[in-house]
Amino acid sequence: SSGQPIDTDCITLTRFVLEEQRKYPKATGDLTQLLNAILTAIKAISSAVRKAGIHRLYGISGSSNATGDAVKKLDVLANDLFINMLSSSYTCCILVSEENDTVIEVEDKFKGKYIVCFDPLDGSSNIDCLVSIGSIFGIYKKQNEGPVSLKDVLQSGDNLVCAGYALYGSATMVVLSLGQGVNGFMYDPAVGEFLLTERNMRIKPRGKIYSINEGYDMFWDDATREYVNNKKRPKDGTSPYGARYIGSMVADVHRTICYGGIFMYPATSEAPKGKLRLMYEGNPMAYIMEQACGAATDGHRRILEIVPENIHEKCSVFMGSKEDVADVMELYKKYS
Ligand code: AHG
Ligand code: MN
Ligand code: MN
Ligand code: MN
Repeated sequence: SSGQPIDTDCITLTRFVLEEQRKYPKATGDLTQLLNAILTAIKAISSAVRKAGIHRLYGISGSSNATGDAVKKLDVLANDLFINMLSSSYTCCILVSEENDTVIEVEDKFKGKYIVCFDPLDGSSNIDCLVSIGSIFGIYKKQNEGPVSLKDVLQSGDNLVCAGYALYGSATMVVLSLGQGVNGFMYDPAVGEFLLTERNMRIKPRGKIYSINEGYDMFWDDATREYVNNKKRPKDGTSPYGARYIGSMVADVHRTICYGGIFMYPATSEAPKGKLRLMYEGNPMAYIMEQACGAATDGHRRILEIVPENIHEKCSVFMGSKEDVADVMELYKKYS
C-alpha cells in the first residue's frame, strides 16, 4: 500500500452529497445518483489520462467539433464516458457536450429531471505534452413539463443547481458546489473514492497573479490592454503582479481559486465573442467562482446572467478575486 494510514471515517464525495441531500426533505436521491455517474466517468478519464501513452490515446482523432477544435482521442473517450454514464443513470433528460453539435436527448425509458452541460476534456491542446487537463460540468433541472427541447437547455447560469470540475493534475481532484459553498475532493486510488480534503474553499478578495494568453496582445481591446499594463507597470507604486498561464481553463481557474488573482480569456478582434463556451466552460466555472466568494464577468455583467441563444455560444471571461475583477469592470465602464 502507499503507506498512508487509511482514514476509517473518511468523508467521501458520495457521503458528503448524501448529507447535503438529507437537508432537503423532498430530495429523491436523484442528484446523488447523477453525481455518482459523473464520478465514474471522471475516474475512468483519470485512469486513461495517466496511461494515455501506453494506450496510444495521444494524438488527433481526425475529426473536428462544432467550435472547429481538432478532436483528440482522449476527447472522444471522455465524451463517450460522460454520455454513457449520464444516459444510463435514470437522472437526465437532455445533455449538452462540447463534442456534440446538437443536444443529446436521453432515451425515454432512461429519462430523469436533470440537464447536464459538460466539457468532457478541457485543455485538449495540453494532452500530448502531459500538462494538466480537466473536465467541467453544470447541472440544471428541467423547468417546464412537456417533451424535452432546446429551450430546456438554454437557461442562464443563475439556474444552475450544481457545478463542478475535475482537474487531472499531479493528483486528480474534484471541486464541487451544490449552492452552499465550494468543496474539494482528492481522488485516492487506494480507496477508489474522492475524499473531502479542501472544506469551504474561498478565494481571497485580491491576489497578485494575472492569467491571460499574452500572445493575443495585438488583438485586445483598450480595456484589456490597459488592465494588463496596470498589472505589469502599476501606477500606484505597488509591485507588479506575477504572470501564470497554463492554457487549460480548469488548471488556470483552480490555481486562481487557490492562490487568488484573475483568469482572463477576453473577446478579441479575432474572436469577437471570446473563445470559451458559455454553457460548459463559462457558466459552471462562474458558478463555482461566485460560490467561492469570487466574481465572474464578461466585462459588462455577471456571466451567470447571460441568457444563452445557442448551445456552443462563446463569452468573454474575467473571473477570480472580487477586487481584481472589479478593476476590469471599471476599465470596461471607462471605455464603454
Ligand atoms: P478545450 O480543450 O475544452 O477545447 O478548452 C480549451 C480552452 C481552455 O481550456 C483554455 O483556457 C483555452 O482553450 C486556451 O486557449 P488558448 O490556447 O487560445 O490560450
Ligand atoms: Mn475543444
Ligand atoms: Mn474547455
Ligand atoms: Mn473540451
